[in-house]
Amino acid sequence: MALRPQTRGDGSAPPDRVPLPPRYQAVWDAPFRDAIERTLRPGMAILDVGSGRNPTILPDERPGGTTYVGLDLSREELEAAGPRAYDEHAVADVGALQDELIGRFDLIVSWQVLEHVEDLGAAFVCMRAYLKPGGVLVAMFSGGRSAFALVNRAIPFHIGAPIVKKVMGRSDRNPVFPAYYDRCTAGRLRTMLREWTAVDVAPFYAGARYFGFSKVASRAYLAYEDAIERRRAEDLATHYLLTATR
Ligand SMILES: C[S@@+](CC[C@H](N)C(=O)[O-])C[C@H]1O[C@@H](n2cnc3c(N)ncnc32)[C@H](O)[C@@H]1O
Repeated sequence: MALRPQTRGDGSAPPDRVPLPPRYQAVWDAPFRDAIERTLRPGMAILDVGSGRNPTILPDERPGGTTYVGLDLSREELEAAGPRAYDEHAVADVGALQDELIGRFDLIVSWQVLEHVEDLGAAFVCMRAYLKPGGVLVAMFSGGRSAFALVNRAIPFHIGAPIVKKVMGRSDRNPVFPAYYDRCTAGRLRTMLREWTAVDVAPFYAGARYFGFSKVASRAYLAYEDAIERRRAEDLATHYLLTATR
């Protein structure tokens, strides 16, 4: 069964103020879903890291015999997913090893979480320990040298969060979380993942909507982003799709 697109928005995002390049027309989470679909098999044990209120694979999309475990720092976020969302859940930091999860999983998925983790190296060590040999990690997350990450890091969370909420049209059902972007660049990711096999770090360049508050800012930002995309400046990418095998 094909996984359905999950925009995770609530329909209240403001319309784009300037025309966006063709790369913005693609369905945003399609490469992430495609990477998961290539791995999905019946009977798998799947860990969704930072799943919160939105499990990546919805209950009716899971192949027969799947065991689906949600892991999140926040009990409140996990509970907001509803009673059918997970077979089990773990309230934990992905960077703190949970003995009961070691060696259990065929697949770990994670959507827009790893930029929120304070120690990404520790998180990779834990996720590798949670996978069975040959198990696969598929994660999409924001780049640490993207323009919005640099702004986000420069502004205290209590000031930045309401701004992101307004600019991106987020409702209370789609909250903003603190982000650290620890080593979230292509080069540093590959270094941290040296012990994994089949590591693929694919860069994306799609941050213009953070500048949607002004036509001038959007155009200036897009000129910059088009240039880094043309140069394939991977360390400056706005997002990464990571696939790696234990
Ligand atoms: C932007 S939300 C994404 C939620 C969900 N994956 C989705 O697709 O909507 C980030 C989630 O990561 C969780 N989170 C942040 N830091 C974490 C950590 N160190 N360990 C586990 N979960 C974390 C947050 O509580 C939140 O639920």
